[in-house]
This record gives sequence, structure tokens and C-alpha cells, in this order.
Amino acid sequence: MCEIKTQSMKAIPQARPNVRAMAPYVPGEQPKPGEKVIKLNTNENPYPPSPKVLAAIQAMSGEALRRYPSPRADLFRETAAQVHGVTPDMILAGNGSDEILAIVLRTFISPGECLAYPDPTYSLYPVLAESGENKVVTVPWEPNWELPIDALVATGARAIFFANPNAPTGTVVSNDRIALLADRFSGLVLVDEAYVDFADGNALPLLRSHPNVIVSRTLSKGYSLAALRFGYAIAAPELVGEMMKVKDSYNCDGIAIAAATAALDDQAYARTTWRNVRIERENLHTAFSQRGYGVIPSHANFLFMTCPGGKAKETYLALKAKGILVRFFDKPGLSDKLRVTIGTPDENQALLSALPA
Ligand SMILES: Cc1ncc(COP(=O)(O)O)c(C=O)c1O
Repeated sequence: MCEIKTQSMKAIPQARPNVRAMAPYVPGEQPKPGEKVIKLNTNENPYPPSPKVLAAIQAMSGEALRRYPSPRADLFRETAAQVHGVTPDMILAGNGSDEILAIVLRTFISPGECLAYPDPTYSLYPVLAESGENKVVTVPWEPNWELPIDALVATGARAIFFANPNAPTGTVVSNDRIALLADRFSGLVLVDEAYVDFADGNALPLLRSHPNVIVSRTLSKGYSLAALRFGYAIAAPELVGEMMKVKDSYNCDGIAIAAATAALDDQAYARTTWRNVRIERENLHTAFSQRGYGVIPSHANFLFMTCPGGKAKETYLALKAKGILVRFFDKPGLSDKLRVTIGTPDENQALLSALPA
């Protein structure tokens, strides 16, 4: 047996300069295995996935597992196309919508070219861009969280990303504003619709008139499948065709394809969870406002609020001590605010009871 040397004389290989320079993405904290918490910090759906999803996973045979999955997740593409009224060649499946975002960048932005986005938004965007040696330009949102169209176009970026509803604010921009941006911008516009299932509209009608728009979706929130890692893009067939060349050959596993297909197929079940979350969102908004929190009206499955006296960190720590996790962003401009995922009625009640006076 060869002994593993603990002290090698060899120099440790250096990562690429852009990787050494970049800050990692910081996900919301996860409880330790077996730890019992009320988890309202990473915007998961509080309800379980459709029973049809569990049945699809249990129905996986040894034979199906022995073979490689469909490289393009064809079954899922057909179902998604039906659900959204588009053609299957407009769907690209991915290992979470995070992978979709990475594929979009790898396909359309060369090293040295620029990604622009309004700030604050999903904090993974700069991580993905910097790992591909893309430059990043951020533009502040306009008052009332309106899309800063002029400033975004003026960046001269190759692509613009934004989340709609936005994270962490839960605010939305209208399709008229998105159309105006896509008209005036010659590059690619990615509308990250991770939370769209909890909102009223979506950007899909723009795809016909604006071939430079890509919509990304996830099953992590609306379909209660964050652990499955499944997301997809909807875009013009020409764009999907290019992205297909760039993705890993089998980027979605066979179990995930079967489960995601079953989830999308059971629209009635998913819609019931969305309706329940929206009812609880309004209840929680009212309750927090009555306690003096400055709550932004939300179109997502979370609320973003300024804490009384700016005491966000204190509130976050007090809740954590009672086994309730919410999201605190220790960043300039956000450090007086908390983001709270909408839980079940019982979880939300426990949260309100645990708030420091
Ligand atoms: C705005 C936004 N986009 C994308 C994602 C990633 O979703 P997925 O789990 O599909 O990778 C998140 C996750 O929190 C998000 O907040």
C-alpha cells in the first residue's frame, strides 16, 4: 500500500487569476442534519411536491437507471412546451436554473465582455460572470424598483440579466418596460423568472416579438423541488440550439427528468400551493406592517422588509436563537432589512410569536 504523504514539496497549483480574485456565492445557511428549525431563509415552497412526483421517482426501474438519460430531456421539453404553449425546440433543460444562467453566459458572452444588471438582485450573477472572465456593470434600480432602462442600455453590455419578480425585493417590472428594454438593447436580455409562479404575469408573450429575450424558470420554488435541481430556459429555437452545444452532454439526470416532468404535468397541484402561499404572503405582510416593519409589497414567495430601528441583525439573531432562520444580508444598503420566506400558516404564526418586541 502506498502511503499518502501529508507534506509534499510540490507547489499547490494556482487557480486562474479571475477565480483567485472573485468572492464566492454565499448561499443561505442550511441546518445541520437532524437539526429541527423553521426554515424561512432560502425561499423554498413550504408545501411538499405533487404526489405524482414521488410516484414518478419510485417508478424508476433498474433498467432506466442503467442507461444514460435523454441528453436533451426530451420528455420534459415536450411537457414544458405544452404547458407554456411553445414548441419543444424553445426549451432548454438544466440542472437548476443556476445552470441555465451559466449556460447563457458561456454561450453568449466572451471573456472580457460585459454583463449588466440592476442592483440589488440575485447575488449569483457576478459570481457566474467573474468565473467566465466577464466584466460586470451594475446599475441601481429606479425609484419604486422600476427597471433602469436608459442606464442599462448605456452600459453597452453584451447581456442584461434581471430577476422578475426580483430577489430580494419581490418587486416586478411590467412587460411593457421589458419590451422597451429589449427594443432598445442590441444584446441579450435574460428575464430570470425563478419566482414568477407567485406573481400575476410573465414575460413569455414577449418571446414572439423579441428574439433577444430568454426567460429562465426553476422547479425549486413553484414546484417544491429545490433538492432535485431542475430549471429551464424558454427562448427562440435559434438561441436554444446554440445553448445545446455548450451544455454538458447529460446535464439532467434521469430521475430528475422524470420527476420534473411529473411536476409540470400536475399544474392543478402546483397552483394550489401558489394560491396558499399568496394568501399567507398577504396575511404576513399585514402582520409585519402592524408591528412597525416597512414591508415592500411582494409578488414572490417572500417578503423584504426594513426592521424597526434598523435592527435587522439583532432580529435575525434573536429568531435564530429560537430555531427560526430568516435571511439577513450584511451588505451596504441591505443591513437594516430582512428577507423572510413565506411558510405554512403554522410556521408563519411561530415566526410572528418569536419576533422580538
Ligand atoms: C432570482 C433567482 N434566480 C435563480 C435562482 C436559482 O434557482 P435554482 O434552484 O433553480 O438554481 C434563485 C435561487 O434562490 C433565485 O433567487
